[in-house]
Amino acid sequence: MHEKTAKTTSSYDESLTRRAIDLAEAGRGRVSPSPLVGCVVVSNDGEIVGEGAYIFSEVTHAEIYALNEAGERARGGTAYVSLEPHAHHGRTPPCTEALIKAGIKRVVCPMEDPNPLVSGKGFQELESAGIEVVRGILKDVAEKQNEKFICWHRNRRPFVHLKSAMSVDGRVATKTGDSKWITSASARQYGQQLRYEYDAILVGADTVRADDPALTDRTGKPRDRDLLRVVLDSSLRTDPGSRVVSTAPEHPTLFVAGSEGESKAEEIRGSGAEVAVIQGGPRNVSVVLDELYTRQITSVIVEGGPSVAGSFVESGLVDKFTFFLAPKIIGGEAAPAAIGGEGPSALTEAIGLRDMTFELVGPDLMITAYPSE
Ligand SMILES: NC(=O)c1ccc[n+]([C@@H]2O[C@H](COP(=O)([O-])OP(=O)(O)OC[C@H]3O[C@@H](n4cnc5c(N)ncnc54)[C@H](OP(=O)(O)O)[C@@H]3O)[C@@H](O)[C@H]2O)c1
Repeated sequence: MHEKTAKTTSSYDESLTRRAIDLAEAGRGRVSPSPLVGCVVVSNDGEIVGEGAYIFSEVTHAEIYALNEAGERARGGTAYVSLEPHAHHGRTPPCTEALIKAGIKRVVCPMEDPNPLVSGKGFQELESAGIEVVRGILKDVAEKQNEKFICWHRNRRPFVHLKSAMSVDGRVATKTGDSKWITSASARQYGQQLRYEYDAILVGADTVRADDPALTDRTGKPRDRDLLRVVLDSSLRTDPGSRVVSTAPEHPTLFVAGSEGESKAEEIRGSGAEVAVIQGGPRNVSVVLDELYTRQITSVIVEGGPSVAGSFVESGLVDKFTFFLAPKIIGGEAAPAAIGGEGPSALTEAIGLRDMTFELVGPDLMITAYPSE
């Protein structure tokens, strides 16, 4: 079942680290609020004897799956783990303890746990037990895989991914607000896959008014946490007959309002949706993210519309962008552009993008990028 391998070289370490990272993908969409983790155990004669991945609801950690599969053959072997093994008692006993007990002699791991409370402690414990720890191989790849988890711990707020579908001239609707659909069914299906990977989806009150969207994850894939639908609506003016309100009993829904919405809060709550009335109202997206943080929301996909997108961009609180560009031109001064807000006066103030990738999804061009530091 498992391939037999030759001696220990750095390219060999790299390929097995990659294998551990690939294994971790089994948990995508199923680990929040924990990280994606994969593990490969190689015996001292170079055979892969155990593999594992973490899925939150299964509780057992990747290292434990791999060690259990390896059994006695782990003794004297190497464990490739995509994230620093934890040294503390959480829902499970420490993985460091299990690695030590199994007689592992070497641990190869690309990155430290970003949680400041435990960061580096797992490595320390392994080294104190005489285990060689090799760090940093494929660090960038491993960090990208756990970008949501890293943001959550380092910035103490959810990872924010802004997604927008537009014409090649950057319009998200016509001058009359017609927006269904700009992009193809393939792009919309891809958008569903993105929703699958997030804890929450967020829109503004005018998108609910204009499109009456369901804002659900329709991939049909198993989720460990329901997708939380978040609507920013200062005065709670959303129609109680809207789809998002009427389906609140089946799909968790949170309205974020200001004090001007208090009089309507009971009616919305009566529908089964939650209402959070926050200081200063939802115009301050940093406070909105604080509210989501207290609810253990580690990641949020912002799907519009332009005003809300503008607020996030101007606050510098977007971690990742995905733009779908449809092969059509809408044009017209009054047709809304993807990102609203004030906008900068000088080009030097424009937001630079890095690590841009392009992919055709059906007839549409998907651009994914990160804001430059
Ligand atoms: N192509 C796409 O990808 C896409 C996606 C979504 C929407 N759309 C289109 O975009 C249009 C709606 O967009 P929109 O820009 O008019 O409205 P929007 O961004 O959906 O909602 C704006 C409203 O949300 C409320 N809000 C609360 N907190 C906010 C904040 N921090 N920042 C901004 N607004 C906040 C404000 O109302 P209060 O002051 O009352 O709270 C504001 O008027 C529709 O035509 C829709 O079809 C397109």
